[in-house]
Amino acid sequence: MPTASNPTADVKADDLAARAAYLAERIRYHQYRYYMLDDPEISDQAFDALFNELRTLEAEHPELRTPDSPTQRVGGVIAERFEKTRHPTPMLSLANAFSPGELYAWRERIQRLLSEEERMRLAYVVEPKFDGLTVVLHYTDGRFTLGATRGDGEYGETITANLRTVRVLPLQIPADPASDLSAPTRLVVRGEAYVDKADFERFNQKQMAAGERAYANPRNFAAGSLRQLDSSITATRPLKLWVYQALIVEGAPQPASHWEALAYLRTLGLPVCQDMRRFTDAEFDQLAAYVEAFGERRHNLPYEVDGLVIKVDSLFMQEELGFTGKDPRWALAYKYAGEEAVTTLLDIVVNVGRTGAVTPNAVLEPVPVSGVIVKSATLHNEDYIRDLDIRIGDKVVIKRAGEVIPKVLHPLPDLRTGSERVWTMPAACPVCGAPLVRPEGEAATYCVNNACPAQLVRAVEYFVGREAMDIAGFGIKQAELFVELGFIHDLADIYQLPWEQIRKLDGYGDKRVEKLQAAVEASKTRPIHRLLTALGIRFVGAVVAETITQHYHSLLELARATPEQLSAIEGIGPKIAASIHEYFSVPTNLALIDKFARLGVRVAEESPSAPVGAQPLAGLTFVVTGALPTFSRDEAHAFIKAHGGKVAGSVSSKTSYVVAGEAAGSKLDKARQLGVPVIDEAALRALAQ
Ligand code: IVH
Repeated sequence: MPTASNPTADVKADDLAARAAYLAERIRYHQYRYYMLDDPEISDQAFDALFNELRTLEAEHPELRTPDSPTQRVGGVIAERFEKTRHPTPMLSLANAFSPGELYAWRERIQRLLSEEERMRLAYVVEPKFDGLTVVLHYTDGRFTLGATRGDGEYGETITANLRTVRVLPLQIPADPASDLSAPTRLVVRGEAYVDKADFERFNQKQMAAGERAYANPRNFAAGSLRQLDSSITATRPLKLWVYQALIVEGAPQPASHWEALAYLRTLGLPVCQDMRRFTDAEFDQLAAYVEAFGERRHNLPYEVDGLVIKVDSLFMQEELGFTGKDPRWALAYKYAGEEAVTTLLDIVVNVGRTGAVTPNAVLEPVPVSGVIVKSATLHNEDYIRDLDIRIGDKVVIKRAGEVIPKVLHPLPDLRTGSERVWTMPAACPVCGAPLVRPEGEAATYCVNNACPAQLVRAVEYFVGREAMDIAGFGIKQAELFVELGFIHDLADIYQLPWEQIRKLDGYGDKRVEKLQAAVEASKTRPIHRLLTALGIRFVGAVVAETITQHYHSLLELARATPEQLSAIEGIGPKIAASIHEYFSVPTNLALIDKFARLGVRVAEESPSAPVGAQPLAGLTFVVTGALPTFSRDEAHAFIKAHGGKVAGSVSSKTSYVVAGEAAGSKLDKARQLGVPVIDEAALRALAQ
């Protein structure tokens, strides 16, 4: 350390400290642009250069490293256990309503408790009820100093180090270093940490592919990720955050209403959801209609929402209304009935997947859940059943959220009669009789027989699916039937089905067979990234397949690639590379590619650089945001690329069009700001014609 008697060292140390502060400030600014505004200003490489310089500087001079340095987001703090933090105000819960009647009854209660003058000014804020984990965040003089879970409402667990790794959480406020707003001296906010549905599915799929434990739902995943004792694990999880309540504001003008408070938090750069609406009391019917309509719309949001929260806007009136027990009178959680149901678990059967992994499935006493009769649900794996002590004969709570497969959430042990049976994983595959094996350290159990017909059925189902070869009219039913009848022994047999014989099958009339045959024919000329996806190689989904086929224009060429060559491709890590290499080193797999080629399936792009079909979108750059009516995000991207257009992740003056769907957020605002034309899905399709 420099001392006063060593002026040169002093100057140098000052320089270094100034450099570190400068780097930290630039990094914060660029992270803010990247994560919060979704509008990066510099390239990833330029950003990495700043980041690496700071990291090196801090490694050489640890005294320069502050807890809120941007380098600390990668975690690394390993706790023995979590300390307790007392919350500044009790963390209340919410009363629930399940019907419009209860919503109106709540309003009447409020009206009764307020004066006439107040009733005139009464207004409500309606916001999504985010289904994650409550967190309480403390900022002191603009720095993020403490973060805690809700705990028992009075004391929470201190998870500051873990929360620091959440990218959208600003470590300093205002998050935009260029802002001229001064930081409040003290700010405590409440929010919800969560994981997007797609990120959750992606993570779980990876876990399962690696034979590791899958999480039951995004909420558990978020909770599990935040409660890691090693914060570097948390840092690898795709956690996000919405802030929805200012608990304490000091050293800044006091907001008069919740709506104002949200706006203030937003200007500080805290992540506040845009999907919030304010209604006056006179507009209560509109509010009720909005609540009703949201029941459907919420399924299109990228994150899980289990209802809406309706809050009285005025903070003064909130105070006046006070609480009953643990619930504030001024807020109400509106939940959509029918999402969850209770039924009897009749049996547990196992299904064999295309990788041979067997998953236990619940056979349920049929029960209606949000308009659909549910008869089966997933039980994930052996550990899930054991950990939750789910027994055959139990009454269980099941949940059906949107389009996803229903899940068994937990049993209701209080309702047991004593006749329930503990389930154990069978020793043999129910389909082929081969032994079932659970590899050491893995959560999944596998059927060891590669030729197991159940695996083949699943592999065929995946092959013909929308993401893969997209063969219309071909689904699990056809896969089962054709495998069962011995028409399909490997994937290539799909291209030499005995159509004459199929015509004789029950339910397979001439028209239907013709259509099916035409669909199979049409799939032969799909771009090779689809065939590569369809093969079902571990870790090679649609996105990876597309990336690879930009470098390898033939599957036989790909088969010769070394793992080193493959992992040199941006976006292809060593695990994917090894998996592809392993796949093509199996002789039967090579023979399969050969068989595809013989049967006329495209295994190489004819002219790699020549555009396939017309390119009406050539020269145009698109940004897709929000939920589109029929395309998923990936499909929209694929559609644009297939028609010669480019896809960008963020809006800039170079963007030609922003394609916006429902619940589009900051990208849409940005487009408007820059005057970039905004179009919908229909207009995109029209442009591509
Ligand atoms: S307000 C006293 N707003 O729902 C007000 N809560 O069932 C308390 N939640 O534990 C909370 N989204 O974690 C509020 N927009 C939102 C919310 C929200 C999710 C959670 C919160 C609470 C639970 C209550």
